[in-house]
Amino acid sequence: MNILLGVSGSVSAYRAADLSRELMRQGHTVRVCLTDAAQNFVSAVLFETLTSQPCLVDTFEEPTVGRMAHIDWARQADVIVIAPATANTINKLANGLADDMLSTLALVTTRPMIICPAMNPQMYVHETVQTSLRHLISRGATVVEPTEGDVASGETGVGKLAPIERIVECVEEVLFSSQALIGKKILITSGPTQEPIDSVRYISNHSSGKMGSAVAKAALQMGAEVTVIAGPQSEPLPIGAKVHSVTTAQQMHDQAVKLAPSFDWVIAVAAVADYRMSAPIEGKLRRTEDSMTLDLVANPDVIAAVAKAAPNALLVGFAAEPTSETTMAQEKIKRKGLFAIAANDISNPSTTFGSAQNHLKLIFNDGSIAESGLTSKFQCSIWLLKQIIYKCANKS
Ligand code: CTP
Repeated sequence: MNILLGVSGSVSAYRAADLSRELMRQGHTVRVCLTDAAQNFVSAVLFETLTSQPCLVDTFEEPTVGRMAHIDWARQADVIVIAPATANTINKLANGLADDMLSTLALVTTRPMIICPAMNPQMYVHETVQTSLRHLISRGATVVEPTEGDVASGETGVGKLAPIERIVECVEEVLFSSQALIGKKILITSGPTQEPIDSVRYISNHSSGKMGSAVAKAALQMGAEVTVIAGPQSEPLPIGAKVHSVTTAQQMHDQAVKLAPSFDWVIAVAAVADYRMSAPIEGKLRRTEDSMTLDLVANPDVIAAVAKAAPNALLVGFAAEPTSETTMAQEKIKRKGLFAIAANDISNPSTTFGSAQNHLKLIFNDGSIAESGLTSKFQCSIWLLKQIIYKCANKS
């Protein structure tokens, strides 16, 4: 696999030399990018000699003339490892700055990123560094925690670059999960639906599409081919996913039933409106002093229809439940013909519509239950996909 190793300016930059060799011993191709500050401790020549690859420093370097390296290298990498990652580099990555080659590469890549902090213990616990790390984790990065010990300033504390073996182990884990869904075609429904009342009003719900987007991003990172049928959601969908935009439940149903037979998995994250107007009104309903009754009819159940149209696909539903109670979610497994359902409690502000985090209870059709704990929607999605993989492996 292709590993892009970013080295920033910490005293421990010299240990990146051993890391590059160890990763090569595992059979990987390693290409190194240094920050300006890293050059105070190590040189490009060192890494070029060790890796037999060009080593980048300047943003405008082009080892292959005519091919912009910041795009090329980012796209060719299977994983990006930043070791050591200084406070400055971590804060830059969290904020999307692109003022040197390493931060520019990090902004271009869609591949998993592993961050190995190394710095003075006081800097490591600084609120900005911790906030940036939490932010990067919520966006999908893996952090290999520094260890405790004597640091260059003579102090003792947490800030030493993690052991090389631990970093290599983490790279192997991340690479493994980044390939876990290669060859799988996954269809995801996402976001709310909107059911017109008249030409200017509609029935909908608070779904932001964050969970659907996170599942799509996680599935892509794990190597799947991802298609999303997206309602009108505010959250952008990840680059790399094929998107079919729809508005109503009926449109979502029609698209899902048409596409599902050629997919291996269908994950229904969408909050589909259960009812629509029996006859939406042309033009604008005018205000009167009278009360009004809308005549609603039931929408089709998208995932239940997919279960019939694509009997070979593995189906996973989501259930936004108004309490932590999962009896109703469990009942939906049978009613809709699902392999599993991921329930979350929308009465909890941390896990409600639009929240950045979620806490899933994943209930399988054999009655077993797994819990993700409270974590970012992206981490929840990685967890969810891994749970499904393990369950399938144990069944066969
Ligand atoms: N679902 C669907 N089509 C619908 C309603 C729901 O595909 N018309 C899917 C959702 O995408 C989700 C699962 O079914 O994966 C459960 O959705 P939920 O709204 O919790 O279930 P409902 O069947 O609508 O039941 P209730 O509203 O009574 O909780």
